[in-house]
Amino acid sequence: MAEIIWQSWFELGNYRIDAEHRVFLDLIMGLNRDHKAGIAADKLARSLREIHKYAEFHFLSEENLMIDVAYPQRDLHVAEHAKILHALETSVAKLVKGEDILDEFLTFLYDWFSEHTVGTDHQLTRYIAARTG
Ligand SMILES: [Fe+2]
Repeated sequence: MAEIIWQSWFELGNYRIDAEHRVFLDLIMGLNRDHKAGIAADKLARSLREIHKYAEFHFLSEENLMIDVAYPQRDLHVAEHAKILHALETSVAKLVKGEDILDEFLTFLYDWFSEHTVGTDHQLTRYIAARTG
C-alpha cells in the first residue's frame, strides 16, 4: 500500500477523537513501512497486536463519549467497532501462523479507517458539537 499522510478531511473537529485517529493512522502506516522493508514476521505480529490494543482503547474512548452524550446511534457504532476488532484478532492469528495476509489486510485496515472516520465517526462528532455548542 502507498504511504498515506494525515488528510484534512480526516479532521473531525473533536480534539480527543482527532488525536487518537492520528495515532491510529500512524500505527497503520508504521506497519505498512515495516512490511515493505521486509521486517521479520514476529515484529509485524507485535505491531499488529499494538494496533489491536490501541483500537480497543480508542473505541472505548468513543463509546464512553457516546454514553456521556446519550448518542442515539451508539449500538450501530459499537457494532462496527466489534467487527473491526474481530478482523484484527483474526489477522494477528493468521500472521502468527505464518500466513501472508498483510498486503490485503493493510489495505482493508486503511479503507476501514478512512470510511469509518469520515462516515460513522463524523456523525458522532457532529452530534457532540451540536449538543455542546
Ligand atoms: Fe468509531
